[in-house]
Amino acid sequence: MQIMTEDMVFELGDDETLLDALERTGHQVEYQCRSGYCGACRIPLKTGRVEYSKPPLALLRRGEILPCCCTVTEPLKLKVHLRSKLAG
Ligand code: FES
Repeated sequence: MQIMTEDMVFELGDDETLLDALERTGHQVEYQCRSGYCGACRIPLKTGRVEYSKPPLALLRRGEILPCCCTVTEPLKLKVHLRSKLAG
């Protein structure tokens, strides 16, 4: 599945979470629980759609997703940047 961020486009692997994939590709993401409880990993979704196997407990505003526990069902455009871009 194709994922587009502010800085690059990459393919989400079959057995990795979106959070894992964002970390693998060097994006600036936060996390704590990695299982839908804390909300630390929230990121804004620009286009596309995700699903959750069970409703996450963390509060989400409209247009935000939890990359640690969502299932990506169509190509996404996300509002996240690479770490290095933020640093400088
Ligand atoms: S890391 Fe806690 S909800 Fe995603």
